[in-house]
Amino acid sequence: MDWIHTSHQNVKVLDCHRTLTFCCSLSLFSERAMQHLKHCQGLAQVFLIRSQSSRLSKSVIPSLSVWDGHFSCRWRSTGGHGRQKYFNDRLPKFRFALAGLLAGTGAVLAYKLHQDKVQLAATSAQLRVTQTSDLPVYTLEEVTKHRSLDSGVWVTYKGGVYDITEFVAIHPGGDKILLAAGGALEPYWALYAVHQQDHVLEILSEYKIGVLNPESYKKQESANPSDPYSAEPTRHPALQINSLKPFNAEPPASILSDNYITPSVIFFKRNHLPVPRVDPEAYRLEIEGLSGGVVSLSLSELKSRFPKHTITATLQCAGNRRSEMNKVKQVKGLNWGIAAISNATWSGARLRDVLLYYGFGPEVAAKAKHVQFEGLDKDVTGTAYGASIPLNKAVSEEGDVLLAYEMNGEDLPPDHGYPVRVVVPGVVGARNVKWLGKIVVSDEESKSHWQQNDYKGFSPGTDWDTVDFKSAPAIQELPIQSAITHPAEGTSVDRSDREVTVKGYAWSGGGREVVRVDVSVDGGKTWHVAKLRTSDQGQHPAPPPPPGRAWAWKLWEIDVPIPHRAQELEIVCKAVDSGYNMQPDTVAPIWNLRGVLSNAWHRVKVLYVGLTQNG
Ligand code: MTE
Repeated sequence: MDWIHTSHQNVKVLDCHRTLTFCCSLSLFSERAMQHLKHCQGLAQVFLIRSQSSRLSKSVIPSLSVWDGHFSCRWRSTGGHGRQKYFNDRLPKFRFALAGLLAGTGAVLAYKLHQDKVQLAATSAQLRVTQTSDLPVYTLEEVTKHRSLDSGVWVTYKGGVYDITEFVAIHPGGDKILLAAGGALEPYWALYAVHQQDHVLEILSEYKIGVLNPESYKKQESANPSDPYSAEPTRHPALQINSLKPFNAEPPASILSDNYITPSVIFFKRNHLPVPRVDPEAYRLEIEGLSGGVVSLSLSELKSRFPKHTITATLQCAGNRRSEMNKVKQVKGLNWGIAAISNATWSGARLRDVLLYYGFGPEVAAKAKHVQFEGLDKDVTGTAYGASIPLNKAVSEEGDVLLAYEMNGEDLPPDHGYPVRVVVPGVVGARNVKWLGKIVVSDEESKSHWQQNDYKGFSPGTDWDTVDFKSAPAIQELPIQSAITHPAEGTSVDRSDREVTVKGYAWSGGGREVVRVDVSVDGGKTWHVAKLRTSDQGQHPAPPPPPGRAWAWKLWEIDVPIPHRAQELEIVCKAVDSGYNMQPDTVAPIWNLRGVLSNAWHRVKVLYVGLTQNG
């Protein structure tokens, strides 16, 4: 870090990513601040001016404002007066952002931080500016008294005591902000590995005001829960990891279409929270909102009371192919490639059968409109993952919604929802709730963050300043999709090959069958129709699905003649479904701030190399 010396204060030149990371690390995150990450890249550096003392002075502290639509620096009193108002004025805007933070924005930060890592490593030695040996010693009881902006917000980390009041005041963010106040940061940071980075700790060190006495530290250590991710399942090494904690990964695109039924070990994994370990003997599924009152059933009851039904269905994350949106303009979310989609067989009880058995009938149907699902995975506040689907999908005979306990003929793997998950074929992955704990038949949608403030689509013109999550419906059925799994971007095709083999997948939501895939090797000037496949190579094709119930993807393949004199091939694919819906040709018009529903024509550029016919 550079210091610019003036007569009154040291002026620190601080990389804004690090500042923002710290906001997030403390769960003190503003959506606008996140938005500004992109601007930060353009700004060589941002000045964060602080008082001469590296500890918080109780006089006048200048602060960096990152939410005003620009970075600004201003002086204000730390006396607490006006601070609350300052905070409250901005609170509502950031409330949803914070829930989002706990829901997984750590992964975005991990991505950004990765970019900064090299630079930060170089400056990290210089950053150690705070001397700690002469700091006051506090007891836990003293720390506990500082849990609000009025009394000051103190937290502890590895035996250090930090007064983050100022940080909270300038980075307001809603009811989750103060969760860590008066106690240890470790349990909160443990949920997102992104916090365990040198520069985050360096920024925290700026707020150090003391240390815990050894007795308090010991007491706190023993009280701290262990890493919530310590019992995560082992994963296949081929998976390309998008974020480790929570675990999010996709298979390499090159192997995705090798199997019609994706092997469970490489099936994409999308977790917002630690994987809960559920004892099958103790497992109970609760059902509410039916005429018979609250019901609770065991795993063996679910298996024995209802016929086992098997479907082949593709799951796709709303963020599949988000990385292509990032190329247009940075969006918020995990940087998925083209493989946040996979296909499996699922077996279990039909949700319809279970609801009918426990009292669903005309009376309930007259009032209810939605079926809500709650997972057994919970965040630090005890809030479970949740989602809902429309009642008519849940109870329709043709809907094929399952309470699945098997995937590809075996017990569900822990990552995919053991012992029971909902499979809602044709519907976005987010509604396929894993580790299912509760079903509620209701007149309302799920109130969960993931139903209300995430997984919704917006206009390319909507940004984080103007977005109103209430204005858009929750994504249910997904649009037509296809992508090229072979050849890979940047690879080369030999001139001696007169043809290029192109492979990929295609799928549409809502049970709409893929009826055609068009492939071009000249950027879309000329087109060829690919051959579609509904089973593994050498196996009999699956019988055609009943209309409106095409839940599984189709794999496709084609050998396309290479145009003369081509130096580079721009391979393009686009699919058509039974409703004649087609993919849009470019990303920009469907860009949206969350990077969901990314289904433009997929384009892959390959080089055409080797000697020409004339040598
Ligand atoms: N269910 C719970 N309980 N917790 C979760 O984090 N993630 C959802 C959905 N169900 C999630 C969940 C999302 S966003 C997707 S895309 C799918 O699970 C992914 O399912 P998979 O991990 O089996 O591929």
